[in-house]
Amino acid sequence: MTSREKILLPLRTSAPSAEPLPADLPAPAADGTRALADRFGRVARDLRVSLTDRCNLRCTYCMPAEGLDWMPTEQTLNDDEMIRMITVAVEKLGIRQIRFTGGEPLLRKSLEKIIAATKELTTDEGKPVGTAMTTNGMGLARRAQKLADAGLDRVNISLDTLDPELYARLTRRDRLKDAVAAIDAAIEAGLTPVKVNAVVMPGVNEGSITELARFALQKGAQLRFIEQMPLGPPEQWERAQMVTAQDILDELATEFEMTPAEEPRGSAPAALWDVTDLTDDSVTGQLGVIASVSHPFCGDCDRSRLTTDGAIRNCLFSNSETSLRDLMRAGASDDELAEKWAGAMWVKKPGHGIDDVGFLQPDRPMSAIGG
Ligand code: 5AD
Ligand code: SF4
Repeated sequence: MTSREKILLPLRTSAPSAEPLPADLPAPAADGTRALADRFGRVARDLRVSLTDRCNLRCTYCMPAEGLDWMPTEQTLNDDEMIRMITVAVEKLGIRQIRFTGGEPLLRKSLEKIIAATKELTTDEGKPVGTAMTTNGMGLARRAQKLADAGLDRVNISLDTLDPELYARLTRRDRLKDAVAAIDAAIEAGLTPVKVNAVVMPGVNEGSITELARFALQKGAQLRFIEQMPLGPPEQWERAQMVTAQDILDELATEFEMTPAEEPRGSAPAALWDVTDLTDDSVTGQLGVIASVSHPFCGDCDRSRLTTDGAIRNCLFSNSETSLRDLMRAGASDDELAEKWAGAMWVKKPGHGIDDVGFLQPDRPMSAIGG
């Protein structure tokens, strides 16, 4: 290993301006459409749809070993309800990109049908909606081509280590091979750029950082290291112990030449780096670091979230949410649903407040919010 000087993070922390607009929601345009704006001037164009709260892994940072109490089916949106909500988001509220999440979205049998219906929608810019999925990859190898044919553009696959024993300990399932096969199948099916998500946990997989990086570069996948956030079992996260983006970059710099990538990050959470393997300069590519905790990017957030039971969340960390399910089931019109959705986004807080005194983790577990 080569010892190198410390590289400095070019990460910027972004927070919205301090002076919010008044609490009253502005009126929609004459045709009933509006953007999902908030009082701090941000506009949501990206919708994350949680298709199920169930999962077939039990990642320690996400769930207890026995799993969670899954939501009863009648409380969750059926396919028609889900497609209706997505249609309202695109046709009335200016959403341009949909990301399917879970739990594990592959556990939703009708996934292809929901993707196909989403892909038929046209955005306010006259383009087809962008479609992506965040998955743990279990069973993706069999389904990747069908999903691409249905209209899925790309995938993010979770993989926190390449050590089979550690993977089994971390996810409580011995399925590393399935995750690796998923990455290969996604590339093969053209679900590109294939991104790989690795959450870095203190004393658990810090030792996997450079191996994961080399693996992803060799495959042509874009690996993004993610700072662990306080969203799982409370004993699994401690601010003082967490592995920060700077720690991750310091570790990478021991084996890679790294320069900040040129392209602007925009609302994407990852800061990207152009990297070359110091031991083999034919191994090059990009790596990303998502510094949600140490360098929050809340000022650039362009997300809205729909849970599998039909609630709108304006932030991953919200302590309140707005259910549209019962309103919809009581016969509300698309305009009424859009109005309530817009109202839920308008009051989005300026930031997640993880470092604030009195920060409270959301009641809903990550698996029922969606990544
Ligand atoms: N902190 C950061 N990332 C998390 N994920 C799940 N829980 C956490 C957490 N506490 C990631 C998963 C997956 C995506 C859905 O979110 O690893 O990549
Ligand atoms: Fe499942 Fe994702 Fe939670 Fe792991 S992090 S248990 S794959 S929902």
